[in-house]
Amino acid sequence: NERSFIMIKPDGVHRGLVGKIIQRFEERGYKLVALKQMTASKAHLEEHYIDLKDKPFFPSLINYMVSGPVVAMVWQGLDIVKQGRAMLGATNPLASAPGSIRGDYSIQTGRNICHGSDSVDSANREIAHWFKADEINDYNSPFINSWVYE
Ligand code: GTP
Ligand code: MG
Repeated sequence: NERSFIMIKPDGVHRGLVGKIIQRFEERGYKLVALKQMTASKAHLEEHYIDLKDKPFFPSLINYMVSGPVVAMVWQGLDIVKQGRAMLGATNPLASAPGSIRGDYSIQTGRNICHGSDSVDSANREIAHWFKADEINDYNSPFINSWVYE
């Protein structure tokens, strides 16, 4: 029951791509266990992207991420961390395969629509950073259990 933190960035929200992005994960067979829209604070985003704090693009990344609401989600299912990254596409949209979210909807790295955890450890850290335990819904889905998994 692996989980990943997937976030639609402010450009994705402004451009009306929330439904399409959620639909891709639903149609693949992953289970949505947490979802909220919020305008994150600078401090919250600096903590989220703490590993990048020394990069030259860090200030512009934070400005981009505080520029509007994001949609924060937790998705669950087999290999979701790795598959979520594949569904998002490469960091630079010009290197993202067509068929991926970034490859279909974006052009530049600084407006690349979505975030996905890059490892199971990152996922656990990010989920705890964005959600309280009681905001995550651990429900049983017999349909997914029988018809997505053998
Ligand atoms: P996330 O899923 O958002 O974490 O992206 P990533 O894991 O594919 O890339 P990374 O964690 O290295 O960078 C985080 C985010 O910083 C990227 O998604 C971009 O929005 C931004 N970013 C990374 N590299 C650059 C860069 O060279 N220039 C600019 N402007 N932004 C960058
Ligand atoms: Mg990253």
